[in-house]
Amino acid sequence: MTERIYLLPLWIRLWHWSNALLIITLSVTGFSLHFADPKLPLVEFSLAARLHQVAGIALVALYAFFVVANLVTGNWWQYIPKPPGIIERCWVQAKWYMFGIFRGEPHPYRVSEETNFNALQALSYWFIMYMVMPLMLLSGLLFLFPEFAPDRVFGFDGLLPVAVVHYLTGAVIVMFMIAHIYLGTTGTTATSMFKTMINGWHEHVGPEESRHGDRRHADRRGS
Ligand code: HEM
Repeated sequence: MTERIYLLPLWIRLWHWSNALLIITLSVTGFSLHFADPKLPLVEFSLAARLHQVAGIALVALYAFFVVANLVTGNWWQYIPKPPGIIERCWVQAKWYMFGIFRGEPHPYRVSEETNFNALQALSYWFIMYMVMPLMLLSGLLFLFPEFAPDRVFGFDGLLPVAVVHYLTGAVIVMFMIAHIYLGTTGTTATSMFKTMINGWHEHVGPEESRHGDRRHADRRGS
């Protein structure tokens, strides 16, 4: 038996795929700029610099849209890790990702319109979207407008900490994306979460059809 819920409105899906496209462009050009090798360029240097700048500015605008749209629609609440029992819920979820999924155990969390994310998703999405992204965008903007960066920090050139923060936050986002794509395959079927991110519909599948027999913990909500 299949029950469908309309989970993701169009604006979230459009934001998400535009965000993914820009971040992939920024990762490839950023890698090319950081490990620049004139003999073997991934993307030719001046083209990489131009693309990185344009995609970076577009990402700043898209991020502003994300923050405002989340505030206006109340969707920001999904991202807040809800404290009572959060450590236990993270542990239950992590155990399932590490072991349970390989033993065919049922998914410990059932998606609902009120709480779309399990505890680990809420924590990691909150961390990436509200901690790491602002730092990455701000350090990128300081690179673009270096006149706003401090001249010196602890005796070093003021752009040095900006460079370190930009590089580290960029690396964290690339690592997040790799893990995120893998975890995207852990839905009811390997492709179901990707389909939800495309058409907005989430399907609860009955235990006999489900890879993980999703229903057993049906009322473990709020994680
Ligand atoms: C090709 C790259 C990407 C793919 C294939 C992908 C795939 C997915 C899928 C399948 C979901 C739905 C599962 C869920 O609700 O957790 C999702 C949600 C999400 N992704 Fe991605 N993603 C990609 C890149 C990114 C990047 C680069 C970021 C942020 C830096 C990101 C942030 C998010 C967030 C915040 C959600 C939750 C959105 C919501 O439901 O409100 N994704 N992604």
